[in-house]
Amino acid sequence: MNKNVIVGQSGGPTSVINASLAGVFTTAKELGAPHVYGMRNGIEGFLQERYVDISDYIRNDVDVELLKRTPSAFLGSCRYKLPKVDKDEAVYKKLFEILEKLEIGYFFYIGGNDSMDTIAQLTIYAERIGSDIKFMGVPKTIDNDLVVTDHTPGFGSAAKYVATSVKELIRDNKVNDMDVVTVIEIMGRDAGWLTGSAALSKGPDCDGPDLIYLPELVFDMDKFIARVAEIQKERRSVIVCVSEGIRTADGKYVCEYTDTAGRTTDSFGHKQLTGTARVLAEVINERLGCKVRAIEFSSLQRCAAHLQSETDVNEAFHVGVAAVRAAAAGESGKVIIIERVDEEPYQSTMGSCDVHLVANYKKDVPRGWINEEGDYVTKQFIDYVRPLILGELTDIYVDGIPRHIDNIR
Ligand code: F6P
Repeated sequence: MNKNVIVGQSGGPTSVINASLAGVFTTAKELGAPHVYGMRNGIEGFLQERYVDISDYIRNDVDVELLKRTPSAFLGSCRYKLPKVDKDEAVYKKLFEILEKLEIGYFFYIGGNDSMDTIAQLTIYAERIGSDIKFMGVPKTIDNDLVVTDHTPGFGSAAKYVATSVKELIRDNKVNDMDVVTVIEIMGRDAGWLTGSAALSKGPDCDGPDLIYLPELVFDMDKFIARVAEIQKERRSVIVCVSEGIRTADGKYVCEYTDTAGRTTDSFGHKQLTGTARVLAEVINERLGCKVRAIEFSSLQRCAAHLQSETDVNEAFHVGVAAVRAAAAGESGKVIIIERVDEEPYQSTMGSCDVHLVANYKKDVPRGWINEEGDYVTKQFIDYVRPLILGELTDIYVDGIPRHIDNIR
């Protein structure tokens, strides 16, 4: 690589998004890139010419190892939608001026389906003006909803956190001899991959949650209350896992039921979803009159680096490596994908595909991987997720807590 590299992080963070940054950085350095720059707060910050030289912060192998174990986006993130090339060329002119000034030859963007749109738009513009800068997408999202790729980095670790925490809550819920319903809200606005992963808590020492509701299916409040009441006839402790994005037949998010004001939206038009468990807990309390708890995993599920899956960290690192190697070999306008090549033992390999096939599309949990009643996932679902949560990284603890590399200030 005889030209400089720029890399950015975008969208919701994960506990392994920095492992992908480590993969991009170390590989670009190995391949001779003179400078590897990092965008501050993604493309939004880059448009304001905010960037750093990553070598000023990641100085040795220990830093690289710490970076892999540090959750959240080291470079900072953004939720910024680039306008369509035909709508506002000025933004692209500015961006390419900055890229030229920094003598960038290779551009990497680590993100989910919205962020891949950035790579798609930049590729269109680069082709239009005959630029030879290589643009590559590096996948990440705890939602696991990118198409083409078997799964996304970030999902396995979040799934491990969800399954572990649900298991711990199941223990806690059984403590007293009384009727208790705990409703747990899990992220994934449009896809139920992470919510369904709660079922992985089930094993010889744990029954798993009683009910699981995914956003792929319409949520029926009356049916839900009837199911809880039915389960309560058999046991006093009931655990329900719900996706933040479940909606009733009228299309309304359950979390919006008690809203008195409009919700904030990001530049992609996504409403902030929060409060689903609280709404359901109130309805249960009202109709069944028992003790209820509402638990929202919220940001914890995507920053729980102490429960990183080793498989996930390794794959997150390798999508970064693969993106740099592909760009160095002349590929552009592509996104790295993970292909599952074997189940027992699990093995994966990296490939690439046209970014236009991925940007703005969404992968649902197949209907066949949800039970007929629509309130649990099937064995096929569990078999698909299990390998992705396997393995633990050796933690680096200092003074009793995990050591991180501090965010750039
Ligand atoms: O990007 C994925 C995600 O974690 C979703 O699961 C969730 O709905 C959203 O981000 C939350 O976004 P924010 O951090 O902007 O509230």
